[in-house]
Amino acid sequence: MEKLKLGIVGLGRLGMEYAKNISHSVHNAELFAACSIKKEEIDYVKNKYGVDNIYDSYDKMLKNKNIDAIIIVSPTDHHPNHIIKAIKSGFHVFCEKPLAISVSECLRVKNVVDKHRDKTIMLGFVRRYDRSYADAKFKLESGLVGKPFFIRSQTVDKDSFAPFQIEFCKSGGGIFHDFNVHDIDLVHWFSGVSINKVWSLGGAYRFKEFAEKDDADNTYAMCELDNGSMALIGASRVSPFGHNTFTEIQATHGNLKIGDPPKKNQVQISDKYGIRHECFETFFDRFEKAFVFQIKDFVNIVLERKKTDLTIDNALKATLVASAMTKSFNEKKVIKVEDLVK
Ligand code: NAI
Repeated sequence: MEKLKLGIVGLGRLGMEYAKNISHSVHNAELFAACSIKKEEIDYVKNKYGVDNIYDSYDKMLKNKNIDAIIIVSPTDHHPNHIIKAIKSGFHVFCEKPLAISVSECLRVKNVVDKHRDKTIMLGFVRRYDRSYADAKFKLESGLVGKPFFIRSQTVDKDSFAPFQIEFCKSGGGIFHDFNVHDIDLVHWFSGVSINKVWSLGGAYRFKEFAEKDDADNTYAMCELDNGSMALIGASRVSPFGHNTFTEIQATHGNLKIGDPPKKNQVQISDKYGIRHECFETFFDRFEKAFVFQIKDFVNIVLERKKTDLTIDNALKATLVASAMTKSFNEKKVIKVEDLVK
């Protein structure tokens, strides 16, 4: 059987999960090469997954022409350069969300991608691979609840991760790029139209350190879509009970809710605190299987030369809206998305 040889860059919180998933769960791919600037991370994948081609520099890894595709899980502010270098070196590319944290950087990548259309370039939006989100999309398309006119979507992390996020909020582009780019993509995917206007509010209500970095720990953005429908997109870093991502679609003949409440499993506890269930701890617990489905799909798309919906244009559209939300938050006014590309 033909196996796609993958080289991964970034072996941190999420990159290590990719390394595990590729090694254990993707039968038609091989974790052939790995790169990180941290020696302990590359030593770990060498010993744990038997990866012989390990590199402390990305440029060195790209010289290995036996690699077929590059998997980018590096910090967000490295994505544009890492994508461009991989494409120019002749590789297919999968890159974690978001594409970039500014519109100009997105357009710089798009300019290069447009000249290399023979390669697969896929930008990860893992929620599309979650069974519940995929089922909701199927039900919407089958017409079950009619035409959506309001989508509410939120990304909420457990408070214990906030100190880690304070350190990384600059390289991640802030809460709208880092958290809400997922929700923006879902609104575009479910509605089939684009967000054209946003008004963001929020603040650093619990962790004041975010304000020092022009960021927030809680935000909401009201959005208008091209067809006049509405979206409300929220983010929070202060949940005491766990990861609480959910989406609600209100439509002309019914509603769909995905992931609310965020049940870790089917166990219900009845005790002196009441009747309750436990919550997911992290995004990874919630979307564990979806990450596997996503990387399997990328490998099949490359091997079978199929098309993907997770294109550069799709990712650019999401970053445009995240940039508009950030600008609206900073300038405290309504922002038209089209004004960002004038
Ligand atoms: P992290 O900080 O834990 O890991 C970053 C990794 O990149 C580390 O291994 C670091 O050594 C390596 N690195 C840094 N600079 C490098 C360079 N110049 N060359 C090679 N390696 C370098 O970050 P984390 O949390 O794993 O996030 C990585 C990306 O994944 C981010 O873009 C983030 O937005 C995305 N992500 C996506 C999620 C999702 O839900 N789809 C969830 C979490 C992260």
